Amino acid sequence: MTRTSLLQAAYEPEAFRSMGHQLIDELADYLARCRAGGADIPANPWIKPEDAKERWSPALDQVGSQSSLQILTDTLREGVHLHHPKYMGHQISPPIPITALAGLVGDWMNNGMGVYEMGVPGSTMEHLVIKKVSRFMGFSDAADGFVTSGGTLANTTALLAARSIKAKQNVWTEGHGQPLALMVSEAAHYCVDRAVKIMGWGEAGIIKVPVDDQYQMDTNQLQRLYEEACEAGTQVIAVVGSACSTATGSFDDLVAIADFCQEHDLWFHVDGAHGAALAFSGKYKDRVKGIELADSVAMDFHKMLLTPSITTALIFKDGKHSYQTFSQRADYLFEQADPEWFNFAKRTFECTKLMLGLKAFITLSQYGVELWDEAVTAVMDLSQAFAQMIKDHPAFELAVDPACNIVCFRYCADDLSLVAQNQVNDQLRQELLEDGEFYIVKTWLGEGLWLRTTLANPLSSTKELRGLLDKIEGLVPAHLST
Ligand SMILES: Cc1ncc(COP(=O)(O)O)c(C=O)c1O
Repeated sequence: MTRTSLLQAAYEPEAFRSMGHQLIDELADYLARCRAGGADIPANPWIKPEDAKERWSPALDQVGSQSSLQILTDTLREGVHLHHPKYMGHQISPPIPITALAGLVGDWMNNGMGVYEMGVPGSTMEHLVIKKVSRFMGFSDAADGFVTSGGTLANTTALLAARSIKAKQNVWTEGHGQPLALMVSEAAHYCVDRAVKIMGWGEAGIIKVPVDDQYQMDTNQLQRLYEEACEAGTQVIAVVGSACSTATGSFDDLVAIADFCQEHDLWFHVDGAHGAALAFSGKYKDRVKGIELADSVAMDFHKMLLTPSITTALIFKDGKHSYQTFSQRADYLFEQADPEWFNFAKRTFECTKLMLGLKAFITLSQYGVELWDEAVTAVMDLSQAFAQMIKDHPAFELAVDPACNIVCFRYCADDLSLVAQNQVNDQLRQELLEDGEFYIVKTWLGEGLWLRTTLANPLSSTKELRGLLDKIEGLVPAHLST
């Protein structure tokens, strides 16, 4: 084909119409099969990385050798299945169908969104979504923020704002003089450590507060660690509370951290990437008590709120603070001077960005926050039921009572050393991965290796959880199970 005819083919409306219809049929059938229990679908049809390369490379070796419908349906079949009731792996939600359709329209339009005029509907929806979510965090109308590309970026952006507001020197223009630091629990997500290192504060810039036996920050240690940092000539500017932590889903005591921050004039940021969504659950919202006292909160829509990744709200209690992160002009795009809610590039890392607010907006427009309440409450109820099932089972041990929808447990046999127990659990998880029927992950907690589940799918039930324990028991080496 000539270049012109290739372009004609690529933009051909009728071919798109036909393939689109077929693809939607495939997706709807797939959803129906998952909802019926997914008996004929493995939750994660895993293959080795080198085999995967071999499997996918022919499509590039010979252009047009496979139809695009074939490639897309194969992708669907061979990837990990979040809508499957036996998916219990990392912390990602099965998106509801309208959010995926919104993604299609957003991708299609490709509105740049950095400035209002490059995405009028998307910019406005994003603002309205943030205002709505802010109220559930317990903030007043003064709160404001934006939707950004993931919890990692949201946390980093919030900490840059904290630096600009709390550091004694103007780091943006003068660079660092006095060493700076923040305090965070040792169980926090690695992205906080990464943000500190990106900001150039080095190892001393992250003061890791020990956790208690529930993996919550031991807030009794804050004062001592703060005094030690001050004596060393470091300016502590912020405390980050985890709501919740990644490995075990533990919530820090946000009220205690807020009190400490107020006493010492520190920025209080809540990493609610995973658990801030509990604010939408009438039954479980008490677990994020104190979130309303934060200066800034990050919350992922893609972890518990049925939204495709990556979609994260970053909300500042005082919306004006969200304009202090970056002090830049870009004469071809915007001027920094005015705080305009509608020109997002002034406040976000992204210049060109997706229509990130559209997916949450359409969800809220169709189902209201009641859907998020149902979804969060359902996975929370499941985690409580699973924890009880594990406690009642003689062959399994629970790491900690789950505060969120993350449940860590392990197979245990009486006379096994810790090292042997770790080996057995590692082996069990590897066999589960290669088997594919269920998908769960693993984590180290101190010296122990634990099987880790996130009950991400609100359509999973106790039937699948019981099935998982039975499956693991069936995989235990014979000399241990007798
Ligand atoms: C507590 C916490 N914070 C931040 C992140 C990073 O979020 P994202 O994957 O959206 O960048 C995660 C991811 O698991 C998390 O659990």
